[in-house]
Amino acid sequence: MIAFRKQSDKLKNLFKQLLQSKNLTSTLNELEAPSAFLIKSHLDYNIHLIREKVEGKKIRIASKSVRNISVIKYVTKRLGDTCSGVMAYHPREALFLLQNGIRDVLLGYPCYHPEDCESLIRDYNEKVTFMVDTLEHVELLDSIGVAYGKKVRICLDIDMSIDIGNFRFGVFRSSLMNIDSFTDLLEKILSFNSVRIVGIMGYEAQVAGIPDLLYNGAKNLIISLLKKRSMRKIISFRKKVCEILQHKGVDLEFFNAGGTGSIDSSKKEEWVTEITVGSGFYDSYLFDFYKNLPVKPSLFFNLLIVRKPRHDIATLHGGGYVASGAIGLEKVPAPIDEKVGLLSNELAGEVQTPIKLLSDKHSYKIGDRVIFRHAKAGELCEHFNHVYLLDQEYKPLHKWKTYRGEGQIFV
Ligand SMILES: Cc1ncc(COP(=O)(O)O)c(C=O)c1O
Repeated sequence: MIAFRKQSDKLKNLFKQLLQSKNLTSTLNELEAPSAFLIKSHLDYNIHLIREKVEGKKIRIASKSVRNISVIKYVTKRLGDTCSGVMAYHPREALFLLQNGIRDVLLGYPCYHPEDCESLIRDYNEKVTFMVDTLEHVELLDSIGVAYGKKVRICLDIDMSIDIGNFRFGVFRSSLMNIDSFTDLLEKILSFNSVRIVGIMGYEAQVAGIPDLLYNGAKNLIISLLKKRSMRKIISFRKKVCEILQHKGVDLEFFNAGGTGSIDSSKKEEWVTEITVGSGFYDSYLFDFYKNLPVKPSLFFNLLIVRKPRHDIATLHGGGYVASGAIGLEKVPAPIDEKVGLLSNELAGEVQTPIKLLSDKHSYKIGDRVIFRHAKAGELCEHFNHVYLLDQEYKPLHKWKTYRGEGQIFV
């Protein structure tokens, strides 16, 4: 069995351009194999498109979907005033970002790492906001605040999932599932002296993180109905939270919502001040399956053909960069050439990936490169030390270190 990927006409044309470019072929031949590359014009296009799309809301860059400090800085600069800062995923990462000049970091996930929290509070208290959803998180931060005589900035994560019987449409993250649990924690937080609430995050994972068009017709329809249904809770929960905070005299600096996949709905709520966006800048494979998201793939990797065990099969070195989360074929890297498919018996292998060559016309030979996209955006950077930024002519402009290349691993 062979797993081929269908592409939209728009993508087909875009990839055809890449596959037929002699410049790109010669650039890749000069790079180490495997290697990752980022097409600057596509990245610029995505930054511009996303900035327009949020229609006046601020954008917070999801670092987990970028994992490269040079790219984060590049996007921050081009977003200008539209950028509210970065959403980080580990306190040591937050420290790394702040040490590298990022001015506003929101930890998108709670930290229970006392020493790392302490370093952040001691050195960067006014530039960092911690995520909380339970008393233990608050107690830890408050105790560090007391020790350093500081008021620690916190953000409450409210859960946007819906439960239908035993089925949860959404994720298991925050314990603040409803107004009662929110108010209960809020009352407790207000009795602490060394923390202050500056933000709320309501991330609608089931809208932003589930593609609209990935599955067969019936499943897509069910997803679309569930997304619509969850919007009712999302809007009313977020609105009510704002009203309660206003009533309690808590002035928020920001209300964070969404992700790349939910920009269209998140921006409609007047109380939402900023939308988190990460994946949209690289436009990884899974983002081909969202409605009304015309971003361009900008990040790719390429593998070297080292064997041809049969005239219609080529074997590549490396390639097993499978995305995290629930297991499925959609998590496997996607070749950009439609005439190339993975073998379902082997898929993307640990150090060897065989591909089926559908067309004899485009006869790949030993020594050639094959271009792929990762299913998710930032995860690819865990496999490479660098990302090559390519200019309009696909010539390397910069060799930008990934987090891994900086010797930094945060997950
Ligand atoms: C808290 C939070 N906000 C936003 C996002 C959206 O990021 P992206 O734009 O990369 O989909 C994520 C992704 O998982 C997230 O965990």
